[in-house]
Amino acid sequence: MLNIKDFKLVSDQIDYDELAVIIREADAALKAGAEAAFVELGCYTGTTALFITRLLMMHGKSNELHVYDSFDGLPDKVAADSSPAGEQFKAGELRASKQQLIKHFRQAILPLPIIHKGWFEELTAADMPNKISFAFLDGDFYTSIASSLHVITPHLEAGAVILIDDYANEALPGAQRAADEWAKQQGKSIKTEKSLGIVRW
Ligand SMILES: C[S@@+](CC[C@H](N)C(=O)[O-])C[C@H]1O[C@@H](n2cnc3c(N)ncnc32)[C@H](O)[C@@H]1O
Repeated sequence: MLNIKDFKLVSDQIDYDELAVIIREADAALKAGAEAAFVELGCYTGTTALFITRLLMMHGKSNELHVYDSFDGLPDKVAADSSPAGEQFKAGELRASKQQLIKHFRQAILPLPIIHKGWFEELTAADMPNKISFAFLDGDFYTSIASSLHVITPHLEAGAVILIDDYANEALPGAQRAADEWAKQQGKSIKTEKSLGIVRW
């Protein structure tokens, strides 16, 4: 198992407790024989993607890792995102450039993931790997999580794991709302751990 504390976090957008859950789930998927792609929608400067890459390398796996971001920060909020605890989350916040992400991978001497720049709302099947075995969704807002779930669903392999960040975060209520609506439509249940929602496909 990857010892996550051996490596620094390149941003404050994930903490070690959450990362431990994400890496545990990714590790379990690989041990169960997952061969399809891993995706992260909302990759920012690569905080989590660096660890997923380290894990894939540790296992000697060649699963593709696709990462997605506007590289232009958060989009506009909708009513479902409104929360007195989350006033600091505004359109344009959390802007990171693709170059910052690439720099972090170069500094860590890790192979680059497949990087997709654009708004999740505009993604189509052509932007997705054919099959997905692990998905980490970290777009914070209602439309971001709803669009992410919408675009990954047709590509999910049986047994895939989907992790939704901020599922249990009162500052970002839109994430849970979008995930709950999707789970109801799909007949799936969501388990909560730390701030994450976890779904098994
Ligand atoms: C909390 S940060 C992600 C942190 C990242 N997972 C990490 O490990 O560092 C949220 C990211 O989602 C992106 N994002 C949010 N909504 C988006 C959307 N609708 N389309 C594209 N990118 C979006 C933002 O640009 C931002 O980089």
